[in-house]
Amino acid sequence: MPLPTRVKIVEVSPRDGLQNEKDFVPTDIKVELVNRLSAAGFPNVEAASFVSPKWVPQMADGAELMARIERRPGTIYSVLTPNLKGLEGALAAKADEIVIFGAASEAFSQKNINCSIAESIARFEPVAEAARAAGLRVRGSISCALGCPYQGEVPISSVVDVARRFKALGCDEIDVADTIGVGTPRRVREVMSAVSAVMDPSGLSGHFHDTYGQALANILAAMETGIAIFHSSVSGLGGCPYAKGATGNVATEDVLYMLRGLDIDTGIDFDAVVDIGQWMAAKLDRKGSSRAGNAIAAKRQG
Ligand code: HMG
Ligand code: MG
Repeated sequence: MPLPTRVKIVEVSPRDGLQNEKDFVPTDIKVELVNRLSAAGFPNVEAASFVSPKWVPQMADGAELMARIERRPGTIYSVLTPNLKGLEGALAAKADEIVIFGAASEAFSQKNINCSIAESIARFEPVAEAARAAGLRVRGSISCALGCPYQGEVPISSVVDVARRFKALGCDEIDVADTIGVGTPRRVREVMSAVSAVMDPSGLSGHFHDTYGQALANILAAMETGIAIFHSSVSGLGGCPYAKGATGNVATEDVLYMLRGLDIDTGIDFDAVVDIGQWMAAKLDRKGSSRAGNAIAAKRQG
């Protein structure tokens, strides 16, 4: 299949990127991050989670963050909602899109959201229904679609099964997530092709963590199967608190650099993203992990 000419990037650094930070990142910084990302032209920013603050303390300020950000017209601001309590928060915060997040692995479902896959789907049903009734977009995220930190191999049939259930809940978009970054291109092609049988590829996205350095190759492989939505995080920030050793999402700067080289349009200001990545890494007192971002920053310094 020819590569897409345009790709939608969902920037997940404010949520997936920061949720695993040990020290609480001040709300001021999170607000500035979201505002800078919006200004750089991202069509979709995953801004916060309305989850239990005991489980993920870093995301406890979601309501304040959503109240303080500047909304750029046309930008979709998404938030994670595991249950009806989360949805209440999302509605009050005027989110544009909610994310229900399940897993293709039973073990991960238990660790991450404290219930079985079947229980999670039953819990998501009224959440998705109420969100749609309120006019919000609904996205379903399938963790461990390419491997699980607890159970290892995950059958493709399990991924397809969760995708089918998410589709039945009325999801506008479904994320195939490689939570621990173990996938390689052939498997990505197989999984994406199989899931495409239940959800049109135009509504499927690839959410690749870069733990094993495979994310860019996996994005290319996914594009070859017709996928044109990808999640990434500036400076490669991130990790999941319930997936030990899992590093961040693929760095947005690296993805944009690759897409630019392939003449694939994103509508995003690449130079601004390099600045944001360097700024954010400095705020977290570390060197950013985007190869392209760091290379360009070094070149600028001359
Ligand atoms: P539980 O303990 O089974 O739930 O947790 P509960 O209903 O018994 O509630 C326990 C307490 O949490 C109660 O408070 C509730 O009020 C509170 P208490 O009475 O003890 O004071 N609570 C909430 N508070 C705020 N907002 C809420 C909420 N719900 C309950 N929405 C639950 C179940 C799902 C809530 C919990 O397991 C949880 O919050 N998990 C969060 C998991 C999470 O955020 N993981 C990271 C994001 S997923 C991810 O990173 C993967 C992804 O990137 C894709 C990929 O890479 O794979 C998306
Ligand atoms: Mg993730």
